[in-house]
Amino acid sequence: MRVFVTGASGWNGRHLVAELLGAGHQVVGLARSDASATFVAGLGADVLRGGLDDLDSLRAGADAADAVAHLAFIHDDFTRMDLAIEADARAVAAIGEVLAGTGKPLVTTGGTPALGGRTAVESDWSPLGNPGTGPGRDANARAALALADRGVRSSVLRLPPTVHGTGDHGFIAALVGLARQQGVAGYVGDGSARWAAVHVKDAARLYRLALEHASAGTVLHGIGDGGVPGREIAAAIGRGLDLPVASVPAESLGFFGMMLSLDYAAAAPRTRELLDWKPEHPGLIEDLDLGHYFGR
Ligand SMILES: NC(=O)c1ccc[n+]([C@@H]2O[C@H](COP(=O)([O-])OP(=O)(O)OC[C@H]3O[C@@H](n4cnc5c(N)ncnc54)[C@H](OP(=O)(O)O)[C@@H]3O)[C@@H](O)[C@H]2O)c1
Repeated sequence: MRVFVTGASGWNGRHLVAELLGAGHQVVGLARSDASATFVAGLGADVLRGGLDDLDSLRAGADAADAVAHLAFIHDDFTRMDLAIEADARAVAAIGEVLAGTGKPLVTTGGTPALGGRTAVESDWSPLGNPGTGPGRDANARAALALADRGVRSSVLRLPPTVHGTGDHGFIAALVGLARQQGVAGYVGDGSARWAAVHVKDAARLYRLALEHASAGTVLHGIGDGGVPGREIAAAIGRGLDLPVASVPAESLGFFGMMLSLDYAAAAPRTRELLDWKPEHPGLIEDLDLGHYFGR
């Protein structure tokens, strides 16, 4: 298949490009800057210049492709998630318009819900008022799933808060940076709130399987570890940096403090059954203990 990938230069996108090319697909990656275009071309993909604010570029990419994986998301300002979610909604609608009636596969991206003590499965949605990947993104996911009724083989891949691996610049890398700065590997409260996690290469394989095989209207979960307690993450960071491990006020970790106080346990029972997918790469603690987060 010729697959149009938005967000091809990003953390998940670059691994998806490699996964698709490795499986014999062709890839056209969206790139919004010269630097991203050079990066995407370096991965071995063709490049389509455009952006989330240029809906014609999204329509053109979708029109010329056999399949679309939508991963681009504006992560520039966590205080304006509302704007990022609106841009995502417009992107899903524009891609959907072009794919309607074609039967082509579309996989979009969401986040697993935080259910405060209960493990989230594919049939769950975020409670109202949940920050982070909450109801706003759920609305976009539902819009993508609704395209199934308009002749699109659409699915939504929901990722946990932690997608880890070598080169990660996300939450775990940020927590490592904060621990270095503050001289302590911190967790919030008693550290029992759990974060689900997946290795970036396992997530990339799941995106590919979704494009190849997922039925229209399917929610998929990319879950490796179902729930790692915050204090275990902090302990691994403490080991890696040779720092003390302690409970710290949520405010001292800024945005991450709020995220670490939420219980994000999740599982992927339906996904594993439907797509015969199971994680093959290291879990979060094993990955931290490999040392690459600490420059080793
Ligand atoms: N922990 C996780 O990784 C995680 C967890 C839950 C959900 N997700 C979701 O998974 C998806 C991929 O996340 P990620 O971690 O791979 O993100 P990322 O590394 O921040 O990459 C974001 C991608 O989107 C592109 N992008 C941003 N703004 C754009 C715009 N205005 N026009 C066109 N492209 C734009 C970026 O292009 P540039 O390279 O040019 O900046 C980049 O390719 C997102 O929807 C994210 O919210 C991720």
